Amino acid sequence: MCGIVGVIGNNKTTDILLNGLEKLEYRGYDSAGIYVNNQKGKDFLVKEVGKISKLENAVTDDVQGLVGIGHTRWATHGTPTVENAHPHFSADNRFYLVHNGVLTNFEELKTKYLADVKFSSQTDTEVAVQLVDHFAKEGLDGEAAFRKALSLIEGSYAFAMVDKEQPDRIFVAKNKSPLLIGLGDGFNVICSDAMAMLDQTHQFVEIHDGEVVILKKGSVEISKLDGTAVQRDPYTVDLDASDISKGTYEHYMLKEIDEQPNVMRKISQNYLNDDGTMNIDSKLLDEMKKADRLYIVAAGTSYHAGLVGQNIFEKIADVPVDVELGSEFGYHMPKLSKHPFFIFLSQSGETADSRQVLVKVNEMNLPSLTMTNVPNSTLSREATFTMELLAGPEIAVASTKAYTAQIAVEAVLAQALGQAKGIAIAKDFDVKKQLALAANGIQTIVDEKATIKQLTADFLTDQTDAFYIGRGIDYALSLEAALKLKEISYIHAEGFAAGELKHGTIALIENNTPVIAYVNDGVGASHTRGNIQEVKARGAHVLVIASQKYAEAGDQIIIPEIDELISPIISVVPAQLIAYYASLARGNDVDKPRNLAKSVTVE
Ligand code: AGP
Repeated sequence: MCGIVGVIGNNKTTDILLNGLEKLEYRGYDSAGIYVNNQKGKDFLVKEVGKISKLENAVTDDVQGLVGIGHTRWATHGTPTVENAHPHFSADNRFYLVHNGVLTNFEELKTKYLADVKFSSQTDTEVAVQLVDHFAKEGLDGEAAFRKALSLIEGSYAFAMVDKEQPDRIFVAKNKSPLLIGLGDGFNVICSDAMAMLDQTHQFVEIHDGEVVILKKGSVEISKLDGTAVQRDPYTVDLDASDISKGTYEHYMLKEIDEQPNVMRKISQNYLNDDGTMNIDSKLLDEMKKADRLYIVAAGTSYHAGLVGQNIFEKIADVPVDVELGSEFGYHMPKLSKHPFFIFLSQSGETADSRQVLVKVNEMNLPSLTMTNVPNSTLSREATFTMELLAGPEIAVASTKAYTAQIAVEAVLAQALGQAKGIAIAKDFDVKKQLALAANGIQTIVDEKATIKQLTADFLTDQTDAFYIGRGIDYALSLEAALKLKEISYIHAEGFAAGELKHGTIALIENNTPVIAYVNDGVGASHTRGNIQEVKARGAHVLVIASQKYAEAGDQIIIPEIDELISPIISVVPAQLIAYYASLARGNDVDKPRNLAKSVTVE
């Protein structure tokens, strides 16, 4: 989703901005732009619809300066056009501003303060920059005008603004949307995501909601909106630029699928000791032991990992679990149990739908844990506890290794909690052995790429619809498998409880309709076999993915041995590869599918 970069005090401003925007491409966007000022009265604004490469072509050699801001836009208010692309500017061309988020009261502000202003875009963002200008025209200096506008603006935002009358500083503010300060050697930067600026620095400073930052070449002044100064130490981001390169791969997605065996090993090494002990915060376990119900809150793929986790926690830690979509739960919260404990699952740690629930949970003083791939992310900072997914940077929009890492970390925590509670089954569930099996099992599947590519061609060429079906653990898995196929191949796919199909949706099965059936769930296996016969009888073209234990002659993909509870860690991999090859065959942009964003920072 929208990405922001900015730099002050470096004579390579334009290169740094464009390089940073390239690194933010993975977040998803439909237009991009930069504003550069040479601090001697000359400035440049370049905006383009489409890829960053198009913007780079439009930037001429004379676009040079010592301060600049840049933006990738994922359209919310107004279609993707040059006019709607950021940076936006005030009618008198004094203020230039980029924004990530959604302003909820922009119409009201426009009517109240800006009735006479001529707008050049359809965006909510332009209201913000015109509002600053409005207060400047009333006599406030740039900073006071910025603060006054912020005091009136409602909604989510990360703002970076340059005032042509004071080009020695960037005005920055944040509420709900992510933004970081990076400390360079003799210069400073801003970015939505540290990855955008790793070529410049590894030292970053967090900005919290409601804070304003005045960023200069040699200083970072953080304050609250009322002006109270804030002191905050920098932290080091322990990532290497090579961690975010594609290496020899054509696509990040395939690289990330292939990385999954190593992710399993890393999780095992980090959390599980050879002597059987675990590196899990004892305070977290004490808090969870008190819980009479766990509420797992997440979105998209992370929600699907939560559905798998529900079964694991209930069986191994003997605690009831609800799995909730953040976008629904926050606004339609059911009656909570007496001692709830919240688990936020989020690869990015920035998902606005999940975050608004965490804000409410904190207001109610309830304990929470964030499982995330991004330490220091908003959800990680704001929850009571954090566990890292340790999957390494996930760049492809379609989540793969974060999903399997989430299930693995859930299993680790469930066993630790089960053992702490003295639950018998937790003693038998050897998570270390299971993660080793998972690593080997994933490797077996990724080594079968050629077969899976051929099956994808056999089953999905020229198809517009497909079904994944399964029962129990395989139903949760089918939802994720179908989402993968939809988001990158654009084939309409549904994940379905195998037994539910006959209650209506079976009407859609006709000659050659692809149905991919999972048979890993012991209790449901024989019934799913029955459902396979039902769809076959109506002409479906059925591909079966079955565990060794329940496989039958003719099944196309066999899942190596693993405890059923965490079997989706392996059995999702064929679905990831099927989605990848279907997308490739259609000539789609595998890593950056249309309309999608990696980090969904608006509600
Ligand atoms: C998955 O492939 C998607 N990109 C999407 O569903 C994602 O899982 C969802 O937006 C949640 O993101 P998070 O894990 O970063 O919170």
